[in-house]
Amino acid sequence: MAKEIKTIAVLTSGGDAPGMNAAIRAVVRTGIARGLKVKGIRKGYQGLLNEDIIDLEARDVSDIIQRGGTILGTARCLEFKQAEGQKKGADICRKHGIDGIVVIGGDGSYRGAQALSRNGINTIGLPGTIDLDIACTEYTIGFDTAVNTAMQAIDRVKDTSSSHERCSIIEVMGRDAGYIALWCGIANGAEDILLPEKYDYDEQRIINNIIENRKKGKSHHIIINAEGIGHSVSMARRIEAATGIETRATILGYMQRGGSPSAMDRYYASIMGAYAVDIMLKGMTNRVVGYKKGEFVDYDIEEALNMTKSINEYQYEVSKIL
Ligand code: ADP
Ligand code: F6P
Repeated sequence: MAKEIKTIAVLTSGGDAPGMNAAIRAVVRTGIARGLKVKGIRKGYQGLLNEDIIDLEARDVSDIIQRGGTILGTARCLEFKQAEGQKKGADICRKHGIDGIVVIGGDGSYRGAQALSRNGINTIGLPGTIDLDIACTEYTIGFDTAVNTAMQAIDRVKDTSSSHERCSIIEVMGRDAGYIALWCGIANGAEDILLPEKYDYDEQRIINNIIENRKKGKSHHIIINAEGIGHSVSMARRIEAATGIETRATILGYMQRGGSPSAMDRYYASIMGAYAVDIMLKGMTNRVVGYKKGEFVDYDIEEALNMTKSINEYQYEVSKIL
């Protein structure tokens, strides 16, 4: 029979995302409500290896739901990618009496959770990333806030771009995934949207589009470029040279990752945090929580990591029409 779970821990790993604090708070308070001891591991897997572990009470997570970032800190830890580091992590869990860990992060962090599970520690993953690029879920903690932050910033850039009759290339986050770019492209009414999954590097087509639009009397031309394509500054120079229209690049960067989480991120992250504790108490391990078709669901980590996700063709087509 599986060992009874008395003490759980929570950590955040990979890129921070708004709503991670809501998830931490929910893990802590649900754990305590279910009679568990709860610990926080600071700075992701690096903190685990450094035994940077603190006790958490319900009051320790007061006044954090509205805060961006993660109160536990996060890190990227190469040592944890090695079998030796993973075994050491599991041994440290046992030393501190930790029976299970809730890992909040992206799919890299899930692999770490999977490794801990293989080493005998119960693990549940929560999807924490602004990129929305986790295949097993339609929602990831932080995406809603990040996309709203980017959308508001792009509205502002559009105002000044129209006033000066300029072309603007606005770079949003997403190294491998174009979800923020696609959503902003539609929500901001951009003229061109460049997604890592779709871009064919046909810059001449964009140039022709800009010239056509200018002939039709459009005062601005907004290009949303995803980080994965990058090179926005040099692209702006080439477009300006080819069109004769002043072209500026704006890279939104980390402003998209910080900031107070939206209601959606606070709410979903809270439910997911509680859900993680409750499925762990049912004896589940090596699972990740997701949101699909209006329901909170969970999958085996292996199964989740083998799922694939791509930009919805219909939504992409619509973005081009609009
Ligand atoms: P994310 O979780 O946002 O995808 P990363 O890919 O950077 O971010 O992963 C976060 C951390 O998870 C890494 O720094 C590392 O400690 C751990 N990790 C990533 N990949 C693996 C792996 N294959 N095995 C074990 N741990 C991993
Ligand atoms: O995964 C979130 C994200 O912000 C990506 O959009 C981006 O490519 C990456 O993290 C950047 O990470 P770093 O913190 O290493 O700059």
